[in-house]
Amino acid sequence: MKALVYHGPGKRSWEERPKPVIKDSTDAIVKIAKTTICGTDLHILKGDVPTVTDGRILGHEGVGIIEEVGPAVSNFKKGNRVLLSCITSCGRCEACKKGMYSHCENGGWILGNTIDGTQAEYVKIPFADTSLYHVPAGADEDALVMLSDILPTGYECGVLNGQIKPGDIVAIVGAGPVGLSALLTAEFYSPAEIIMIDTDDNRLDVAKKFGATKVINGKDGRAKDKVMEFTGKKGVDVAIEAVGIPATFELCEDIIAPGGHIANVGVHGKSVQLHLEKLWSQNVTITTRLVDTVTTPLLLKEVKAGKLRPRQLITHEFPLADIMEAYDTFGNAAKEKALKVLMKAA
Ligand SMILES: NC(=O)c1ccc[n+]([C@@H]2O[C@H](COP(=O)([O-])OP(=O)(O)OC[C@H]3O[C@@H](n4cnc5c(N)ncnc54)[C@H](O)[C@@H]3O)[C@@H](O)[C@H]2O)c1
Ligand SMILES: [Zn+2]
Ligand SMILES: [Zn+2]
Repeated sequence: MKALVYHGPGKRSWEERPKPVIKDSTDAIVKIAKTTICGTDLHILKGDVPTVTDGRILGHEGVGIIEEVGPAVSNFKKGNRVLLSCITSCGRCEACKKGMYSHCENGGWILGNTIDGTQAEYVKIPFADTSLYHVPAGADEDALVMLSDILPTGYECGVLNGQIKPGDIVAIVGAGPVGLSALLTAEFYSPAEIIMIDTDDNRLDVAKKFGATKVINGKDGRAKDKVMEFTGKKGVDVAIEAVGIPATFELCEDIIAPGGHIANVGVHGKSVQLHLEKLWSQNVTITTRLVDTVTTPLLLKEVKAGKLRPRQLITHEFPLADIMEAYDTFGNAAKEKALKVLMKAA
């Protein structure tokens, strides 16, 4: 089969690899129908994720068709169409029993990280019964690919941890696919205002179309002043950090109102200043989370009902065989006006 293989920082190739085979009784082999590229894959290619080693097939998102299942898999059979999750969960360990699948002792984020991923013609999924989801009949499969990672991430790490409620003033820093997913799912709770902050005007335009009530381009370094002005110097009830750099987390610290929630979503590679000398008396909560994908069933229902429309996040489509070109497009997101690139198998 063909697969997109990582060969160390800056090096990737679309090459011939052996088709995966069932090893454990709980495995399933899935033929990939659709997959996509995540910002995290770009981090991997920069060499930022040391657990990913030379020879790894990348990718942790997609929709596919069951090709074969191990003898212990009871929920899926050959021919079923399935949504893949970026998180693999055994369903039995202490973390899984708490619903914290991201910290599964036998799984977690392993796909396209410590085991071969979904940017290939076939992928092996461990613990298939607890890691795959049936595609609901009649669902828009292209849209469902957005449920493998970015929508549960924006929803769980941003919206749920941020405890958004009706009437809240919410700021989302970062209008990438994850920040925009937080925006789409924040709307479940009817906040009064959703302020989107980014440095890319195209993404801010998209945010407006998705329902942001105010957009701020932070390029001039005045995002804090603009938020404080807009909120009558009060600040925001919920600040969601969806970039992953010190400046944007510190912006969240600067704009949070007393009693507010700062929900970190971004993957941080550098330490960040925690201004406890200002925040200690402010009754704020700061949360962090690796997406658990516990809300995937709920999100599937919202998509099926047409209340959540993640297809809007797809800006480009490629045949799976053109994935090298898809990476070039996604890697130049600002110039190409790219959000999510969808690859479809022939
Ligand atoms: N916690 C988790 O489980 C989890 C899961 C998936 C992704 N993530 C992380 O979420 C973050 C967002 O992911 P994404 O795919 O949307 O990334 P992205 O890179 O596409 O989006 C980041 C956005 O931030 C904007 N930005 C950059 N610098 C800025 C600044 N100084 N001020 C305002 N905006 C700025 C960029 O223009 C871009 O639109 C990343 O750090 C990613 O690794 C976390
Ligand atoms: Zn991802
Ligand atoms: Zn587990």
